[in-house]
Amino acid sequence: MTAISECVSLKPYNTFGIEVQARYFAHINHIQQVQELATSKGMFTQMPKLPLGGGSNLLFTQNYNGLVLYNCLKGIAIDRESSQTVWLTVQGGEVWHELVQYCVAQNWGGLENLSLIPGSAGAAPIQNIGAYGVELKDVFVQLQAVHLASGEIHNFSNAECRFGYRNSIFKTAFKGQYFICSVTLQLKKNPQFNLQYGEVQRTLEQLGYINPTVQAVSHAICHIRNAKLPNPAELGNCGSFFKNPELETTTFEYLHRLHNTMPHYPAANGRMKIPAAWLIEQCGWKGRRIGNTGTHVNHALVLVNYGNATGAEIKQLAESIQQSVLDRFGILLEPEVNIL
Ligand code: EPU
Repeated sequence: MTAISECVSLKPYNTFGIEVQARYFAHINHIQQVQELATSKGMFTQMPKLPLGGGSNLLFTQNYNGLVLYNCLKGIAIDRESSQTVWLTVQGGEVWHELVQYCVAQNWGGLENLSLIPGSAGAAPIQNIGAYGVELKDVFVQLQAVHLASGEIHNFSNAECRFGYRNSIFKTAFKGQYFICSVTLQLKKNPQFNLQYGEVQRTLEQLGYINPTVQAVSHAICHIRNAKLPNPAELGNCGSFFKNPELETTTFEYLHRLHNTMPHYPAANGRMKIPAAWLIEQCGWKGRRIGNTGTHVNHALVLVNYGNATGAEIKQLAESIQQSVLDRFGILLEPEVNIL
């Protein structure tokens, strides 16, 4: 039997630090608990269920009137290895950055650019976490998940996850339908480093590294992130609140003629990616504070909770920012964060 608590504060379980309650809350230590809750024909079978990892990509705007399944599955195991590659299966409740540190310590390459991303391993595939030129999909092999409606265990290959920019099938067709138990990743013993993001190369030099190593790149990434992104343990936030918009060529060219300092990067299918942070900063929002909410002084894309903000207040701020960017640039910013 799984112990289920009632009326549990979710404040410690979301990095925005929003005070809401879950009607019911269960710590999941074994896959069988999820299967049992999904199929036992008890009161929880039909109830809405929220799989929860590190809560680092979630904005709660109201109490959760269902059952929270808090992923506490732990363990990192080597499935197999060759002279070049290691295949690791990581349980969903592992803390992402601790997994990165473990791989860095073994000198296995692949995750170093994803250092210091808040959240859990099980949540990583949902939005295909990414940073500094690398995305989870680049190292991802497969995952195992419990289908919440049937209790069945399903495996998803890389292609079946339909990864995109901050996107996967778990944010679209199968949204809310699966509890991710484990992910299998493929890491390299002699990695090629991805230093395409100019700041990474510059930081390596600044830190005195001559040749990149797994440790050096991870150190540089942590250095960059610590310099501009607030630590959620100190200031409530969810990292980037919006996705960087991708524009069709004609729209981009039109806007670029009007705003010739607008930064831009080539994206998939001939589109151009524009930093949402730049658009928001141009609208005067960077570092602005409204009550208990605001955008961070060092990064306009990071919305923060200065104290006791409610989710509704943060959502209101996000909508005001969206409106400003829409009025000025004709671009509708799409939240990256899941708003509940
Ligand atoms: N910029 C501004 N004002 C700011 C901050 C940035 O104008 O206040 C402009 C600058 O031109 C800068 C550019 O935005 O060069 C890009 O900024 P940054 O390198 O910080 O990256 P980002 O596009 O804001 C994305 C990801 C981050 C990831 C970084 C590094 C998205 C939505 N966000 O941010 O991911 O860490 O690149 O790869 O794609 C997250 O998803 O939560 C996250 C933090």
